[in-house]
Amino acid sequence: MMHTDVVIVGGGISGLYTALNIQDNVKVLVITKEELSCCNSYLAQGGISVARDSNDIQRFIEDTCRAGGYNNSLEAVNILVKESRQNINRLIQLGVKFDMDGNDFNYTKEGAHRINRILHCKDRTGEIIHGVLTSQCKSKKNITLSENVTMTDLIVKNNQCLGIQIKSGDVEDSVSAHITVLATGGVGGIFKSTTNNTAIKGEGMAIALKHGIEMKDLDKIQFHPTALYENSEKQRFLISESVRGEGAILINNKGERFIDELKPRDVVTKAIDKEIKNNNSKYVYLDARHLGKTFLINRFPTIYKECLNRGIDITKDLIPILPAQHYIMGGIKVDTKATSSANNLYAVGEVSCTGVHGNNRLASNSLLESLVFSHRAAIDIGIKLRKLNCDKYKIKKLSFNQSDNKDILINKILSLRGDLKDELYTNR
Ligand code: SIN
Repeated sequence: MMHTDVVIVGGGISGLYTALNIQDNVKVLVITKEELSCCNSYLAQGGISVARDSNDIQRFIEDTCRAGGYNNSLEAVNILVKESRQNINRLIQLGVKFDMDGNDFNYTKEGAHRINRILHCKDRTGEIIHGVLTSQCKSKKNITLSENVTMTDLIVKNNQCLGIQIKSGDVEDSVSAHITVLATGGVGGIFKSTTNNTAIKGEGMAIALKHGIEMKDLDKIQFHPTALYENSEKQRFLISESVRGEGAILINNKGERFIDELKPRDVVTKAIDKEIKNNNSKYVYLDARHLGKTFLINRFPTIYKECLNRGIDITKDLIPILPAQHYIMGGIKVDTKATSSANNLYAVGEVSCTGVHGNNRLASNSLLESLVFSHRAAIDIGIKLRKLNCDKYKIKKLSFNQSDNKDILINKILSLRGDLKDELYTNR
């Protein structure tokens, strides 16, 4: 059995940023089930929202709540927006270079934002931030990054989380930890068509559900309007909402525009679904041609290249798109310090639910949520570690069956959202 002060499960932006914000005298182990880059934050293209200035605070809060159908936790939204700039400044201090326009940032726009307030690194924002956080973590003596290690179970006794069980290759082991942080991401891998990395199958949520840890809003699943159509069900390549933010339009197979492209995501997705059904087609089109070749290649180099590899030149061709599962607003219920209903268990990023997104997440609020609430988790962990009498926790090995975990989550989502039956991997 290994021992550490803090074990973090998941090496996406939430996991790494939590690790970096914990004080240097605390031993932190971060495990990831595949390599570090196998996470959804790595795939984030569009960017990260931030309040432009004090005049933008109220407007950003309103935009977030309007997109969320006013079902958001107002407390969480206030924190998200008010703490946005300080976390962006920290990222910049750590070495992230956002795209600039002269001396100011090049803010872009996405659906349901009333102004341009999204920072980006071309169309590889998540990958760039993740790269910077990875090298920062590697440079710190108190942080160990351990790849290809799977969490097979949480160790919970009397509602006290005592660590995790792990598997690496054929070797099973336990990690006892004063604090456990789940940063295991979303549920895309249990959907047939998703923009997520399909290796991420809601493991953290499933294991939490098994232990009776409180969950929230598991019925709130977001479908991104513009995933690239390919003739197979699988991980779909995302065409970032920022392409629409920069002026691309949606048209049906008669060449007609049918929706304001910058409405909230759920509205645009519904309109596309309707259009696809009404026209008995498999996709609609995104038209970015009028934005010009130089601009498109410079602003969206990844999208340009990925589409070209699939025979679509976005400077000349229409892009066939359809909605695909993208995000889950619900997850492990946490407070604004990221603490769950089990003692000493935190959840950050997509696996968690602060209620900040309401029914439908505002574009580019996911990376921001990861930063703001991971930072808060790290602060709270520091306080808690000082209070803990660590010797009293003794753990013993528990038995575990991995496939049961996934079924628990799929069945739970199905019980809330029977309408998603055909979208999920299920035998029912
Ligand atoms: C995108 O670039 O469209 C994704 C951004 C997000 O999910 O917020």
